Amino acid sequence: MLAKKRVLVGISGGIAAYKMPETIRLLKKAGAEVKVVLSPSACDFVSPLSLAVCSGNPVTSELFDVHTGHWVNHVELALWADIMLIAPATAKTLSSMAQAHTDNALLVTWLSSRCPVLVAPAMDHDMWLSPLVQDQVRRLAQHGTQVIPPGHGALASGLIGEGRMQEPSQLLRHLECFFLKPTNLWGKTLLISSGGTREALDPVRFLGNESTGKMGAALADVAKAAGATVWFAQGKNSQEPVLTPDRVFPFQSALDLQQIMESQAPAADYIFMAAAVADYRPKKVESQKIKKQSGGLNQIDLTENPDILKGLAGLPKRGTLVGFALETEHGMQHARQKLDRKMVDFLVLNSMEHEGAGLGHDTNKVSILQPGNEEIHLPLQSKLQTAVQLINTICS
Ligand code: CTP
Repeated sequence: MLAKKRVLVGISGGIAAYKMPETIRLLKKAGAEVKVVLSPSACDFVSPLSLAVCSGNPVTSELFDVHTGHWVNHVELALWADIMLIAPATAKTLSSMAQAHTDNALLVTWLSSRCPVLVAPAMDHDMWLSPLVQDQVRRLAQHGTQVIPPGHGALASGLIGEGRMQEPSQLLRHLECFFLKPTNLWGKTLLISSGGTREALDPVRFLGNESTGKMGAALADVAKAAGATVWFAQGKNSQEPVLTPDRVFPFQSALDLQQIMESQAPAADYIFMAAAVADYRPKKVESQKIKKQSGGLNQIDLTENPDILKGLAGLPKRGTLVGFALETEHGMQHARQKLDRKMVDFLVLNSMEHEGAGLGHDTNKVSILQPGNEEIHLPLQSKLQTAVQLINTICS
């Protein structure tokens, strides 16, 4: 997704600048071309030499050399870029941008750009929450700048709070999603379940399945990058989203998951039930480890789990409901039956008949089924691309 993309990285002077050589390294690894422009104070936090080595290009921190009169054509630099990422964006830089001030190389290059611009603010908790800063950020967003909201965590001041710039892998994920163009989901809440259930037999054993949670995590990332509020029900040891969801609900058993989904679904606009749910659980969970000699493992009595999805379909108040079906044979036939039986608005068929699709892969090939409509067949592509196409079809 980032291969051959020209990314102009603008760095302003905050402690989070230490994350930028790593961000640039990841961008280069993903195949992007990178150039860097720095505000004067950024050079106090990160060395131009490190950035030049990581990006493989000279960096720009001054508009001209006072000794030689050599000047940088900032317009050329700005027009070179397919996208500009300003990270960290300090309160001062955000405020200068909102007022179109051009008093350093970073700002003048930014104002000359025609490409999309993403900013990753970084500052202390109270600065970030200050209404004045929020006003400037809103103003920039209204003018088309995409804001990568800072996260919650340890800040340089010693405070714990909002204002921590996103990590390099998260910045990269935002850029990837940006190029995939997901529908804007600002103001929408997505509830996504992901990963497999585990049905305990005793304190150390369980009945589980092969789900890795990669598809659910990709959906959560795309939704978050598209501006949604994301509530993520996550199976034990399954893939975590790169972008931090607004709420995470860990689950183990189908009954845990049922409780989470039924309590959260009424407030969600979209419900993606991507979790792989065990249809049966052991009738009895032993409080002590079942000993081999006791013969207790020779036969395990099972009882049926509730169909969570079907239960959600019957809720008096709920958002758009999306089920997933993993099939190993006769995929379309089984999926059509599930669509009717479970009374969902969409059913995503994940067929293991296709190479590179289904459990554990980084790629997927799915079809989208909807009552009364022709199915939509998506090509084999990365799970992130699949997630964007699912969201763009379902949440449009
Ligand atoms: N599902 C659910 N509760 C269950 C079983 C499945 O909510 N007890 C949901 C899954 O999360 C998925 C959809 O139903 O969104 C289809 O799951 P799948 O395992 O493919 O279908 P099953 O109903 O279990 O049918 P079968 O195992 O016979 O294919």
